[in-house]
Amino acid sequence: MKTTKHVRLARCLSLFGVLLALVVMLLGAWTRLVDAGLGCPDWPGCYGKLVVPDDATALAHSPHVPLDPGKAWAEMFHRYMAGVLGLLVLGLTFLAWRARSVAGYPWRTSAVLLLAILLQGAFGAFTVTLKLWPQVVVLHLLGGLGVTLLFLWLYLSLRRIDARARGGYRLSRPGALWLIAIGLLVLQIALGGWTSSNYAGIACHGVPTCNGQWWPTMDWSEGFNLTQTIGPNYLYGQLHAEARTAIQVAHRLGAIALGLVMLLLTVRYWHRRVLRPYLTLLSGIYALQLGLGIANVLLWLPLDLALAHTAGAVLLALVMTMTVWRATSLPQSCSSSMNENAAETSGLGGVLTLVSRRQHRKLRYETQRPWLPEGTDQ
Ligand code: HEM
Repeated sequence: MKTTKHVRLARCLSLFGVLLALVVMLLGAWTRLVDAGLGCPDWPGCYGKLVVPDDATALAHSPHVPLDPGKAWAEMFHRYMAGVLGLLVLGLTFLAWRARSVAGYPWRTSAVLLLAILLQGAFGAFTVTLKLWPQVVVLHLLGGLGVTLLFLWLYLSLRRIDARARGGYRLSRPGALWLIAIGLLVLQIALGGWTSSNYAGIACHGVPTCNGQWWPTMDWSEGFNLTQTIGPNYLYGQLHAEARTAIQVAHRLGAIALGLVMLLLTVRYWHRRVLRPYLTLLSGIYALQLGLGIANVLLWLPLDLALAHTAGAVLLALVMTMTVWRATSLPQSCSSSMNENAAETSGLGGVLTLVSRRQHRKLRYETQRPWLPEGTDQ
């Protein structure tokens, strides 16, 4: 197989990986939402078997954990799909090894992805064996997000190999505002995971107030006690009402802080024409996510809306990654904005490519009009 074929194949597989990782994350959320997180009491098998066993086998394996076949299958389906994702990562690692001599091949990202999926498998195992201990559930959620974003990063880096060959672009360090936005988004997603794993989603009735009060009685130290004991079964949560209220309010405050920083980002970078579609998309998904969060509270967490809220969080993180990638991509020669726009056409796939292609065509047209002053691309 030729090297370029390796790169092309790795690109397709990494893009597929983004989609599959999203599906696996949603399956994980679904497993939790139908209370099937402990559908199998052991790991990696289910009552010691690779497929859900019959009642007699389950009883012989774990006499104190009665088998619920529906829940056990939900859990096992999540594990099978996660297994496929693991195989995909192994395939990408193999391709990275075969293409290691290709200049600029992102083999480090591939190696980090391999490490991340192994860690994620361990978090999955601990989620079951520590009986949904919230700390490990949040790490499992963040790990899944990390794997999804690494697939995307790998895809973008593989596309950059082509752009390099055409005199492409390099990445610069993101500025402080980007780092704050990324940090807040990760924190907000962790707070969301803390909310769901402690079953604090409906601790507050009503929005924007909580149980009719702007600042209800809350137990912050218990709500954010990160050393809560390992041992009890955390299905349906262990915390008292005021601790859960503190968690729900913290998640709402996090959403406000994130919204403010997103607004600042948009105002600060709106002058960069290439960033406008990204900033618009980012704001749109943020608004959607806010609406879904509020709807979940008002409608008492219906399954489809709760799943959509998880998907919204992953989508927000994916678009944030693409925006940061674009914002930090500098043309190799920074002399003209033409280069910057040309890099744009090679930087992204999917929906944003359509936007950037239009921009590129428009730019080509503009550069063919000599009466325009030099560098006119606004
Ligand atoms: C806009 C930024 C927001 C982000 C990025 C975000 C993210 C998340 C995430 C990642 C989860 C955990 C999902 C899971 O474990 O599968 C979650 C849970 C939750 N969020 Fe948000 N959220 C946001 C805003 C809000 C707002 C404004 C509200 C309500 C006013 C809200 C209400 C909830 C509720 C009720 C849950 C628990 C869902 C469950 O138990 O399944 N979220 N959020």
